[in-house]
Amino acid sequence: MATEPTTTANVTTDAWTVRRILDWTIPHLKKHGSDTPRLDAEILLAHARQCPRIKLYTEYDAVLTDAQRQIMRDLVQRRSKAEPVAYLVGRREFFGLNFQLTSDVLIPRPDTETLVLQVLDHAKAWPRPRILDVGTGSGCIAISIAHHLKNAIIAAVDLSPDALAVAQNNAKLHQVGDRIRFVRGDLFESLDADASFDIIASNPPYVTTGELAGLDPDVRLHEPHLALDGGADGLKVVRRLIADAPRFLDEKGILLIEIACEQASAVTELVNVTQRFTDVATIADTTGRPRVIKAVVK
Ligand SMILES: C[S@@+](CC[C@H](N)C(=O)[O-])C[C@H]1O[C@@H](n2cnc3c(N)ncnc32)[C@H](O)[C@@H]1O
Repeated sequence: MATEPTTTANVTTDAWTVRRILDWTIPHLKKHGSDTPRLDAEILLAHARQCPRIKLYTEYDAVLTDAQRQIMRDLVQRRSKAEPVAYLVGRREFFGLNFQLTSDVLIPRPDTETLVLQVLDHAKAWPRPRILDVGTGSGCIAISIAHHLKNAIIAAVDLSPDALAVAQNNAKLHQVGDRIRFVRGDLFESLDADASFDIIASNPPYVTTGELAGLDPDVRLHEPHLALDGGADGLKVVRRLIADAPRFLDEKGILLIEIACEQASAVTELVNVTQRFTDVATIADTTGRPRVIKAVVK
Protein backbone atom coordinates (compact mmCIF):
# COMPACT_ATOMS: atom_id res chain seq x y z
CA MET A 1 0.00 0.00 0.00
CA ALA A 2 2.96 2.30 -0.56
CA THR A 3 1.20 4.10 -3.41
CA GLU A 4 -1.95 4.89 -1.52
CA PRO A 5 -3.62 8.22 -2.29
CA THR A 6 -4.33 10.83 0.33
CA THR A 7 -7.78 9.97 1.57
CA THR A 8 -10.48 11.76 3.40
CA ALA A 9 -13.86 10.34 4.28
CA ASN A 10 -15.60 12.45 1.63
CA VAL A 11 -13.21 11.71 -1.31
CA THR A 12 -15.01 8.48 -2.06
CA THR A 13 -13.20 7.55 -5.27
CA ASP A 14 -9.84 7.55 -3.47
CA ALA A 15 -11.06 6.06 -0.21
CA TRP A 16 -9.64 2.74 0.94
CA THR A 17 -12.77 0.65 0.80
CA VAL A 18 -12.91 -3.09 1.38
CA ARG A 19 -13.14 -3.61 -2.39
CA ARG A 20 -10.20 -1.35 -3.15
CA ILE A 21 -7.98 -2.91 -0.50
CA LEU A 22 -8.74 -6.41 -1.78
CA ASP A 23 -8.08 -5.30 -5.38
CA TRP A 24 -4.69 -3.97 -4.28
CA THR A 25 -3.72 -6.74 -1.89
CA ILE A 26 -4.56 -9.84 -3.96
CA PRO A 27 -2.07 -9.20 -6.82
CA HIS A 28 0.49 -7.90 -4.30
CA LEU A 29 0.42 -11.15 -2.29
CA LYS A 30 0.44 -13.18 -5.51
CA LYS A 31 3.55 -11.34 -6.65
CA HIS A 32 5.19 -12.14 -3.30
CA GLY A 33 4.64 -15.87 -3.63
CA SER A 34 1.28 -16.64 -2.03
CA ASP A 35 -0.52 -19.60 -3.65
CA THR A 36 -3.82 -18.44 -2.14
CA PRO A 37 -3.71 -14.64 -2.45
CA ARG A 38 -7.48 -14.02 -2.43
CA LEU A 39 -8.09 -16.23 0.60
CA ASP A 40 -5.10 -14.72 2.43
CA ALA A 41 -6.20 -11.16 1.64
CA GLU A 42 -9.75 -11.83 2.82
CA ILE A 43 -8.68 -13.50 6.07
CA LEU A 44 -6.23 -10.70 6.86
CA LEU A 45 -8.72 -7.97 6.03
CA ALA A 46 -11.45 -9.62 8.11
CA HIS A 47 -8.92 -9.82 10.95
CA ALA A 48 -7.95 -6.14 10.57
CA ARG A 49 -11.65 -5.15 10.62
CA GLN A 50 -12.50 -7.66 13.37
CA CYS A 51 -15.39 -8.96 11.30
CA PRO A 52 -16.40 -12.37 9.88
CA ARG A 53 -15.04 -12.95 6.35
CA ILE A 54 -18.56 -13.03 4.91
CA LYS A 55 -19.04 -9.40 5.95
CA LEU A 56 -16.41 -8.30 3.44
CA TYR A 57 -18.86 -9.24 0.68
CA THR A 58 -21.78 -7.41 2.24
CA GLU A 59 -19.65 -4.35 3.09
CA TYR A 60 -17.61 -3.97 -0.10
CA ASP A 61 -17.93 -0.19 -0.05
CA ALA A 62 -17.17 0.32 3.63
CA VAL A 63 -14.17 2.58 4.24
CA LEU A 64 -11.52 1.33 6.67
CA THR A 65 -10.57 3.48 9.65
CA ASP A 66 -6.96 4.68 9.86
CA ALA A 67 -6.30 2.15 12.62
CA GLN A 68 -7.71 -0.73 10.54
CA ARG A 69 -5.63 0.35 7.54
CA GLN A 70 -2.48 0.44 9.67
CA ILE A 71 -3.18 -3.07 10.96
CA MET A 72 -3.87 -4.32 7.43
CA ARG A 73 -0.69 -2.69 6.10
CA ASP A 74 1.41 -4.47 8.77
CA LEU A 75 -0.28 -7.81 8.11
CA VAL A 76 0.24 -7.55 4.35
CA GLN A 77 3.89 -6.64 4.83
CA ARG A 78 4.45 -9.65 7.05
CA ARG A 79 2.53 -11.98 4.72
CA SER A 80 4.72 -10.70 1.86
CA LYS A 81 7.69 -12.10 3.80
CA ALA A 82 6.02 -15.54 3.83
CA GLU A 83 4.75 -15.38 7.39
CA PRO A 84 1.85 -17.88 7.51
CA VAL A 85 -1.66 -16.45 7.77
CA ALA A 86 -2.37 -18.71 10.77
CA TYR A 87 0.40 -17.00 12.76
CA LEU A 88 -0.67 -13.54 11.59
CA VAL A 89 -4.21 -14.01 12.83
CA GLY A 90 -3.08 -16.25 15.71
CA ARG A 91 -5.41 -19.16 15.11
CA ARG A 92 -6.29 -22.16 12.92
CA GLU A 93 -9.22 -24.54 12.87
CA PHE A 94 -8.54 -28.23 13.42
CA PHE A 95 -11.08 -31.02 13.82
CA GLY A 96 -13.85 -28.41 14.02
CA LEU A 97 -12.22 -26.53 16.91
CA ASN A 98 -10.35 -23.23 16.89
CA PHE A 99 -6.78 -23.34 18.19
CA GLN A 100 -4.77 -20.31 19.21
CA LEU A 101 -1.28 -20.32 17.77
CA THR A 102 2.08 -18.65 18.11
CA SER A 103 5.17 -19.36 16.04
CA ASP A 104 6.30 -21.66 18.90
CA VAL A 105 3.98 -24.37 17.59
CA LEU A 106 3.42 -26.15 14.31
CA ILE A 107 0.28 -25.01 12.50
CA PRO A 108 -2.15 -27.95 12.80
CA ARG A 109 -2.60 -29.71 9.44
CA PRO A 110 -5.77 -31.39 8.15
CA ASP A 111 -3.55 -34.48 7.54
CA THR A 112 -3.40 -35.01 11.31
CA GLU A 113 -7.18 -35.44 11.51
CA THR A 114 -6.62 -39.02 10.24
CA LEU A 115 -4.59 -39.75 13.39
CA VAL A 116 -7.25 -38.21 15.65
CA LEU A 117 -10.00 -40.25 13.96
CA GLN A 118 -7.97 -43.42 14.59
CA VAL A 119 -7.51 -42.59 18.26
CA LEU A 120 -11.24 -41.91 18.70
CA ASP A 121 -12.13 -45.14 16.94
CA HIS A 122 -9.72 -47.40 18.87
CA ALA A 123 -10.45 -45.71 22.21
CA LYS A 124 -13.96 -47.19 22.13
CA ALA A 125 -12.44 -50.47 23.36
CA TRP A 126 -11.88 -48.99 26.84
CA PRO A 127 -14.49 -47.43 29.15
CA ARG A 128 -11.94 -44.90 30.45
CA PRO A 129 -9.12 -44.91 27.91
CA ARG A 130 -5.76 -43.60 29.08
CA ILE A 131 -4.22 -41.73 26.17
CA LEU A 132 -0.82 -40.09 25.71
CA ASP A 133 -0.08 -37.49 23.01
CA VAL A 134 3.67 -37.25 22.40
CA GLY A 135 4.82 -33.95 20.84
CA THR A 136 1.60 -32.10 21.53
CA GLY A 137 2.57 -28.71 20.02
CA SER A 138 -0.60 -26.58 19.98
CA GLY A 139 -2.37 -29.40 21.81
CA CYS A 140 -4.61 -30.00 18.81
CA ILE A 141 -4.55 -33.82 19.09
CA ALA A 142 -4.93 -34.12 22.87
CA ILE A 143 -7.59 -31.39 23.04
CA SER A 144 -9.66 -32.76 20.12
CA ILE A 145 -9.63 -36.15 21.84
CA ALA A 146 -10.58 -34.66 25.21
CA HIS A 147 -13.40 -32.72 23.56
CA HIS A 148 -14.87 -35.87 21.98
CA LEU A 149 -14.09 -38.45 24.68
CA LYS A 150 -15.38 -37.16 27.97
CA ASN A 151 -14.18 -40.27 29.83
CA ALA A 152 -10.63 -40.27 28.53
CA ILE A 153 -7.70 -39.68 30.84
CA ILE A 154 -5.14 -37.76 28.80
CA ALA A 155 -1.51 -36.74 29.11
CA ALA A 156 0.40 -34.61 26.62
CA VAL A 157 4.17 -34.23 26.35
CA ASP A 158 6.38 -31.76 24.53
CA LEU A 159 10.05 -30.88 24.67
CA SER A 160 9.30 -27.19 24.12
CA PRO A 161 8.06 -25.25 27.18
CA ASP A 162 6.75 -22.50 24.87
CA ALA A 163 4.70 -25.01 22.91
CA LEU A 164 3.30 -26.43 26.16
CA ALA A 165 2.19 -22.95 27.22
CA VAL A 166 0.22 -22.62 23.95
CA ALA A 167 -1.29 -26.09 24.42
CA GLN A 168 -2.29 -25.36 28.01
CA ASN A 169 -3.94 -22.12 26.95
CA ASN A 170 -5.87 -23.96 24.22
CA ALA A 171 -6.95 -26.63 26.70
CA LYS A 172 -8.31 -23.92 28.98
CA LEU A 173 -10.15 -22.25 26.07
CA HIS A 174 -11.80 -25.56 25.22
CA GLN A 175 -12.58 -26.28 28.87
CA VAL A 176 -10.58 -29.49 29.02
CA GLY A 177 -7.62 -28.06 30.98
CA ASP A 178 -8.50 -30.12 34.04
CA ARG A 179 -8.61 -33.36 32.00
CA ILE A 180 -5.19 -33.20 30.33
CA ARG A 181 -1.90 -33.49 32.20
CA PHE A 182 0.78 -31.50 30.37
CA VAL A 183 4.35 -32.66 30.84
CA ARG A 184 7.56 -31.12 29.56
CA GLY A 185 10.10 -33.69 28.51
CA ASP A 186 12.03 -35.56 25.87
CA LEU A 187 9.49 -38.19 24.71
CA PHE A 188 8.77 -40.43 27.73
CA GLU A 189 11.64 -39.30 30.00
CA SER A 190 9.56 -37.11 32.35
CA LEU A 191 6.74 -39.59 32.82
CA ASP A 192 6.58 -41.73 35.96
CA ALA A 193 8.43 -44.99 35.33
CA ASP A 194 5.19 -46.92 35.95
CA ALA A 195 2.97 -44.68 33.79
CA SER A 196 0.73 -46.81 31.59
CA PHE A 197 -1.50 -45.98 28.64
CA ASP A 198 -4.03 -47.72 26.42
CA ILE A 199 -3.16 -45.56 23.42
CA ILE A 200 -0.02 -43.61 22.61
CA ALA A 201 -0.53 -41.19 19.70
CA SER A 202 2.09 -39.00 18.11
CA ASN A 203 2.62 -36.66 15.21
CA PRO A 204 6.40 -36.44 15.60
CA PRO A 205 8.86 -34.40 13.52
CA TYR A 206 9.45 -36.54 10.41
CA VAL A 207 10.83 -34.28 7.67
CA THR A 208 14.38 -35.18 6.66
CA THR A 209 16.96 -32.49 7.41
CA GLY A 210 17.76 -32.45 3.69
CA GLU A 211 14.12 -31.83 2.71
CA LEU A 212 13.81 -28.99 5.20
CA ALA A 213 15.87 -26.64 3.02
CA GLY A 214 13.52 -27.24 0.08
CA LEU A 215 10.27 -26.59 1.95
CA ASP A 216 8.12 -23.54 1.16
CA PRO A 217 9.43 -20.40 2.87
CA ASP A 218 6.20 -20.21 4.90
CA VAL A 219 7.19 -23.45 6.62
CA ARG A 220 11.00 -23.26 6.47
CA LEU A 221 11.35 -19.67 7.71
CA HIS A 222 8.50 -19.51 10.21
CA GLU A 223 7.50 -22.88 11.68
CA PRO A 224 9.62 -24.34 14.51
CA HIS A 225 12.30 -26.69 13.21
CA LEU A 226 12.00 -28.72 16.42
CA ALA A 227 8.51 -29.66 15.18
CA LEU A 228 9.70 -30.62 11.70
CA ASP A 229 13.26 -31.89 11.65
CA GLY A 230 13.38 -35.68 11.93
CA GLY A 231 17.13 -35.94 11.26
CA ALA A 232 18.98 -37.39 8.29
CA ASP A 233 16.32 -39.98 7.36
CA GLY A 234 13.38 -38.22 9.02
CA LEU A 235 13.00 -41.09 11.50
CA LYS A 236 15.22 -39.97 14.38
CA VAL A 237 12.30 -39.31 16.75
CA VAL A 238 10.06 -42.04 15.27
CA ARG A 239 12.74 -44.66 15.96
CA ARG A 240 12.98 -43.68 19.64
CA LEU A 241 9.19 -43.54 19.97
CA ILE A 242 8.85 -47.08 18.66
CA ALA A 243 11.66 -48.39 20.86
CA ASP A 244 10.36 -46.83 24.10
CA ALA A 245 6.56 -46.96 23.65
CA PRO A 246 6.11 -50.66 24.67
CA ARG A 247 7.25 -49.86 28.23
CA PHE A 248 4.40 -47.37 28.57
CA LEU A 249 1.64 -49.35 26.87
CA ASP A 250 -0.66 -51.54 28.95
CA GLU A 251 -1.87 -54.91 27.70
CA LYS A 252 -3.25 -54.63 24.13
CA GLY A 253 -2.21 -50.98 24.12
CA ILE A 254 -2.02 -49.31 20.72
CA LEU A 255 0.69 -47.11 19.23
CA LEU A 256 -0.48 -44.71 16.49
CA ILE A 257 2.10 -42.57 14.68
CA GLU A 258 1.60 -40.10 11.86
CA ILE A 259 4.13 -40.58 9.07
CA ALA A 260 4.91 -39.21 5.61
CA CYS A 261 3.42 -41.59 3.04
CA GLU A 262 6.83 -42.54 1.61
CA GLN A 263 7.96 -43.68 5.10
CA ALA A 264 5.31 -46.42 5.44
CA SER A 265 7.51 -49.42 4.68
CA ALA A 266 10.55 -48.11 6.62
CA VAL A 267 8.43 -47.43 9.72
CA THR A 268 6.63 -50.78 9.44
CA GLU A 269 10.06 -52.41 9.39
CA LEU A 270 11.17 -50.40 12.46
CA VAL A 271 8.08 -51.62 14.33
CA ASN A 272 8.51 -55.24 13.24
CA VAL A 273 12.18 -55.52 14.21
CA THR A 274 11.39 -54.69 17.84
CA GLN A 275 9.30 -57.91 18.01
CA ARG A 276 7.24 -56.09 20.65
CA PHE A 277 4.18 -55.44 18.49
CA THR A 278 1.49 -57.35 16.64
CA ASP A 279 -1.30 -56.29 14.23
CA VAL A 280 0.97 -53.79 12.52
CA ALA A 281 -0.91 -51.84 9.85
CA THR A 282 -0.74 -48.67 7.82
CA ILE A 283 -3.83 -46.49 7.73
CA ALA A 284 -4.61 -44.34 4.71
CA ASP A 285 -6.05 -40.84 4.66
CA THR A 286 -9.14 -39.94 2.61
CA THR A 287 -7.00 -39.71 -0.54
CA GLY A 288 -5.71 -43.26 -0.06
CA ARG A 289 -2.17 -42.37 1.03
CA PRO A 290 -0.73 -44.23 4.05
CA ARG A 291 -0.38 -41.61 6.80
CA VAL A 292 -0.60 -43.48 10.11
CA ILE A 293 1.15 -46.59 11.45
CA LYS A 294 -0.80 -48.65 13.94
CA ALA A 295 0.74 -51.35 16.12
CA VAL A 296 -0.64 -53.27 19.12
CA VAL A 297 1.80 -54.12 21.88
CA LYS A 298 2.35 -57.85 22.61
C1 LIG B 1 5.05 -32.27 14.06
S1 LIG B 1 4.88 -31.35 15.56
C2 LIG B 1 3.25 -31.87 16.04
C3 LIG B 1 2.52 -30.84 16.84
C4 LIG B 1 1.03 -31.20 17.06
N1 LIG B 1 0.91 -32.45 17.76
C5 LIG B 1 0.32 -31.27 15.73
O1 LIG B 1 -0.03 -32.38 15.30
O2 LIG B 1 0.09 -30.22 15.10
C6 LIG B 1 5.97 -32.24 16.62
C7 LIG B 1 6.01 -31.74 18.08
O3 LIG B 1 6.93 -32.60 18.77
C8 LIG B 1 7.73 -31.84 19.66
N2 LIG B 1 8.97 -32.59 19.85
C9 LIG B 1 10.02 -32.70 19.02
N3 LIG B 1 10.96 -33.52 19.54
C10 LIG B 1 10.46 -33.94 20.73
C11 LIG B 1 10.95 -34.80 21.75
N4 LIG B 1 12.15 -35.40 21.64
N5 LIG B 1 10.19 -35.00 22.86
C12 LIG B 1 8.99 -34.40 22.99
N6 LIG B 1 8.46 -33.57 22.05
C13 LIG B 1 9.19 -33.35 20.94
C14 LIG B 1 7.89 -30.50 18.96
O4 LIG B 1 8.19 -29.48 19.88
C15 LIG B 1 6.52 -30.34 18.29
O5 LIG B 1 5.64 -29.62 19.12
